[in-house]
Amino acid sequence: MPPVTSPSSSAAGAASLAARAGRALKGHVRVPGDKSISHRALILGALAVGETRIAGLLESEDVLNTAQAMRALGARVERDADGTWRVAGVGVAGFAEPAEPLDFGNSGTGCRLVMGAVAGCPISATFDGDASLRTRPMRRILDPLERMGASVIAAAEGGRLPLALAGAREPLPIVYRSPVASAQIKSAVLLAGLSAPGLTTVIEPEASRDHTELMLRQFGAEVLVSAEGAHGRRISLTGQPELAGTAVAVPADPSSAAFPLVAALIVPGSEVTLADVMINPLRTGLFATLREMGAEIEEIGRRDAAGEPMADLRVRASKLRGVEVPAARAPAMIDEYLVLAVAAAFAEGTTVMRGLHELRVKESDRLTATADMLRVNGVAVEISGDDLIVEGKGRVPGGGLVETRMDHRIAMSALVMGLAADRPVAVDDTAFIATSFPGFVPMMAALGADLA
Ligand code: S3P
Repeated sequence: MPPVTSPSSSAAGAASLAARAGRALKGHVRVPGDKSISHRALILGALAVGETRIAGLLESEDVLNTAQAMRALGARVERDADGTWRVAGVGVAGFAEPAEPLDFGNSGTGCRLVMGAVAGCPISATFDGDASLRTRPMRRILDPLERMGASVIAAAEGGRLPLALAGAREPLPIVYRSPVASAQIKSAVLLAGLSAPGLTTVIEPEASRDHTELMLRQFGAEVLVSAEGAHGRRISLTGQPELAGTAVAVPADPSSAAFPLVAALIVPGSEVTLADVMINPLRTGLFATLREMGAEIEEIGRRDAAGEPMADLRVRASKLRGVEVPAARAPAMIDEYLVLAVAAAFAEGTTVMRGLHELRVKESDRLTATADMLRVNGVAVEISGDDLIVEGKGRVPGGGLVETRMDHRIAMSALVMGLAADRPVAVDDTAFIATSFPGFVPMMAALGADLA
C-alpha cells in the first residue's frame, strides 16, 4: 500500500481521537519509509556531486522540513509525479548561507544532523523548531562541533534553539568519545568531518544505529568501524571525499511498523503482514524483546534495500509474558519503549525495562509520559531511577484520556492500547502523528481498527 496522507493529520490544529476494542486486525500493509534513512538520504544527496534519486522517501513533516533545509542551503530538491525524489547536491563543504532561519519543526534528528553538516561549511545559519524541539538539549552536539572549529553566535538558555551557528572555515578532524550512545551525536560529528582533512573518529559507549556509516559508504566515503570495549564502536571517516550522487530505495520504518505490529499481538485473532520492514540489528531491539515475551513474529523473504537488511513480518495475536529488558539493548529500541510498555501491560507478569535515561530528552519526557499513559488507563507502573516497571495483568481497563505532549509516538501508542482495552482510550491531539507516520489512522482502520 502506498503511503496515504491524511488531510486531518496536520500539526496545524489539535484533533482528538479514541480507539476501542472491536474485531481482529487482518491484512497486508506497508508502513511508510524509514525516517532515519530518509533524513540521511536528503542530507548526503545535498552534499554529493551529481544526482541522488530516492524511492520511498518518508513524506512526513519531519523529513519535509529537512528537504526544505537542503533547498535553503543550496541543493536542488524535487519530487517527481511518481513519488521519486531527486536531489542535485552542492558537494562536500558546498552549502550556501541560507537567507532565513532553518525550521526543523518537531525533529531532533533533522536539526542535529544538519547542524553537523553546516558546522563543516564556512557559512552561518540559524536553527529553530517547535516548542518541543526548543526544549531539547543541543549542547551534546555543540561540544564536539565547537572542537572542530564551529562557533555558536547566539542561542537560547542552555544552548537551546533558536540557535545561530557559524561553521568552521578550516574544520579540524577530531577523535570524539561520545558520553552517550546517540546516532544523532555520532552523525553530526561525521557529517562535519566530511569537510575536515584526515580522519574524524567517533567512539560510542554502545553501538547506536549505523545508517550514517552505511550510507556514507554508499556515497563513496571511506568509513572504518571496529569494536570498542564490550558493546561500543569506533568509527573513523576519511575527510574530504568526493561524494557521488546515488540511488537510494528507502525500506519501511521498523519504528512505525511497531504500532500495527503490537496492535496485532494484543487484539485477539489478529494476523497482519508488514511489508519491506528494515531489520538492521541496531533497530530491532523491540522485535527481539517481543519474541522473548512470546510474540509470534515471522520473518519472510530477507533481502537488501539501501544497503540495509529488510523482510516482511507476519504477526499473529500472541499470549505475552513479562520479561526483563537489559539497558544494553536500549540504543536498538530507543524509540519503541512507549509501545513496548503497551505490550507489557497486556502481558502476564512484570516487565522491567532498564537504563532509560535517554527517554527523558526525546520529543517529550517519555519516561514520565509512558508511566502517565499507563496509569491513567488503570495499569500499575513504577519508575525507579532510570528503570520502568510495568505490572502486566493480561488485560488493560482503559477509559483514560492520554495527553500527547507534542509527541507522535505517545499518540500512536495510546491508540494501539485502546484497540484491546476494556474501555476506549482517547488521545487529546493526533496532529503530531504526521511528523513521522502520515496515514497511520487510515492504515489502522484498513486493518479493522475502530478509531473515531
Ligand atoms: C535517530 C536517533 C535516535 C532516535 C531518533 C532518530 C537518528 O536519537 O531517538 O528518533 O535518526 O539518528 P539519539 O541518537 O539521540 O538517541
